[in-house]
Amino acid sequence: MRIILAPMEGLADVHLRRLITAQGGFDWSVSEFVRVVDRPYPDRVLYGMCPELMNGGRTDSGTPVRVQLLGSDAEAMAANALRAVELGSYGIDINFGCPSKTVNRRNGGAIMLQEPESLYRVVSAVRAALPTSVVVSAKMRLGFDDTSLMLENAAAIEAAGATELTVHARTRRQGYAPPAHWHELARIREHIRIPLIANGDICSVEDYHRCVAATGTVDVMLGRGAVRMPSLARQIRDNCPQDSPWVSIEPLLNDFWRQLSAVLSPRDRIGRIRQWVNYLRQRHPEAEVLWQLIRQESDIQRLDAVL
Ligand SMILES: Cc1cc2nc3c(=O)[nH]c(=O)nc-3n(C[C@H](O)[C@H](O)[C@H](O)COP(=O)(O)O)c2cc1C
Repeated sequence: MRIILAPMEGLADVHLRRLITAQGGFDWSVSEFVRVVDRPYPDRVLYGMCPELMNGGRTDSGTPVRVQLLGSDAEAMAANALRAVELGSYGIDINFGCPSKTVNRRNGGAIMLQEPESLYRVVSAVRAALPTSVVVSAKMRLGFDDTSLMLENAAAIEAAGATELTVHARTRRQGYAPPAHWHELARIREHIRIPLIANGDICSVEDYHRCVAATGTVDVMLGRGAVRMPSLARQIRDNCPQDSPWVSIEPLLNDFWRQLSAVLSPRDRIGRIRQWVNYLRQRHPEAEVLWQLIRQESDIQRLDAVL
């Protein structure tokens, strides 16, 4: 069993990755995507997207972090991949799932699922640029509009030399709307030999077992479920369906709020705390009470007192 913390741009940043991975149970985490256009970035861009590179490529609790790259320029992707690995990234993940119109318009993310050769081109270039000991993984959706190229896309990624494939069990068209179509992952697993990591709507220990039964893979990537319940990976590992009590989450919120004060403007800091509490209230009734207190509060002193 391997459990990975999902990349979540604008949500699972370095601060949340630190807090969530500190709860234990994760084998590694993936950074928010670095959008590669047509050239190598200066190191500060890679450090900015993945500050853990300044910490040996690990979160404070020691969980490795893998830099995720997004783009269709194979040469530029390869150059940035090599630099990220030289700076300490725990392998490279390539994003073929991003549904954003802006990103897709520039031929990056999920749009590439319409053209398996483009996946092959990018993965092979990245693979060729890196020592064979370095892991190259890819993350895709079931397809762009439909699943017609699903198996071909997975096969192209494998043939290009990827070591692992994560699949978010939805097409781009399906966005993030439930349900996740785990049964499709079973077809992909049967079609490839590299390990398949299942992703999408695994939010509880029970979901994990249902996902394993549907897909046949024990490796999973947890996204929003871990934001709502930071101990989710540990619960799955210990097979403990009992949720962590709210008293164990309150100090994390407090820690998050304090951390953000050093790096964000008051406005952004308020936005981030509201964002997380909004996720937490989907799981913890106590967070709903907190949400009502902070949702319209913009006075930092009053928020300090509440948090
Ligand atoms: C706010 C947000 C940001 C995301 N950013 C990324 C990203 O940068 N790279 C990526 O591959 N997937 C990204 N995703 C997709 C997640 O990694 C994951 O595939 C998806 O949320 C489904 O898993 P879940 O149901 O466990 O959340 C993002 C999802 C959300 C909700």
